[in-house]
Amino acid sequence: MEADFWLNRWQENKIGFHREDYHEKLLQYFPELSPQNGQKVLVPLCGKTKDMLWLLNMNLYVHGVELSRKAIDSFFIENNFDRPKETQDQDFTHFTHENLIISQGDFFKLNSGDQYDYIYDRAALVALPHEMRTRYSEVIENVLPTGGQYLLITFEYDQEKMEGPPFNVDANEVHRLFEKSFKIELKETMENVPEGPRLGELDKFKQKVYILTKK
Ligand SMILES: C[S@@+](CC[C@H](N)C(=O)[O-])C[C@H]1O[C@@H](n2cnc3c(N)ncnc32)[C@H](O)[C@@H]1O
Repeated sequence: MEADFWLNRWQENKIGFHREDYHEKLLQYFPELSPQNGQKVLVPLCGKTKDMLWLLNMNLYVHGVELSRKAIDSFFIENNFDRPKETQDQDFTHFTHENLIISQGDFFKLNSGDQYDYIYDRAALVALPHEMRTRYSEVIENVLPTGGQYLLITFEYDQEKMEGPPFNVDANEVHRLFEKSFKIELKETMENVPEGPRLGELDKFKQKVYILTKK
């Protein structure tokens, strides 16, 4: 997906993926990772997800990465944050407020010098078409040290029945992308749980929750 596709989605307010509540699977599974105060979590392709607030409340350092300035501004305004500090480097504009940084720019430019204890991925991997996913998995792999954990939520449906995004990312695809460098644990499969208007119309739709641990 090209950057313009997403920037237009934000400009036109076509953001059906955004949820006003915390994701129930984040609340259910993230505590299993036993996060400690001051550890770092990366939220790739973060949009303006409220899940970052929940992660901040767990006393973690939270780093979101997002293309759209509008999404980032909306996050800070809608959640009543003071104006974030703005800094710039070659690839990103960073917006910092206490333990939160949201970096505006292309996730694929993330530097392997940045290392995290956790990654939380909801509607990020599934937002990318097949041809972008290997590169995405390489960035994920580069920024997690051995033992680092990746909470991943995927969608499975018949790709012939609907055009992505979000895309069908089945178990084979998760293994293709990650099994070389991660132990992959499927935690839960949810059948036909409604997830927005388009996915809600599919007759067979699954969501899966994985915890991946870097080898
Ligand atoms: C489907 S939305 C999901 C947002 C968020 N994870 C959530 O659950 O609400 C995907 C987001 O990724 C952003 N995005 C797409 N490609 C990106 C890239 N290469 N780098 C950074 N952000 C990107 C889009 O602007 C969009 O906000």
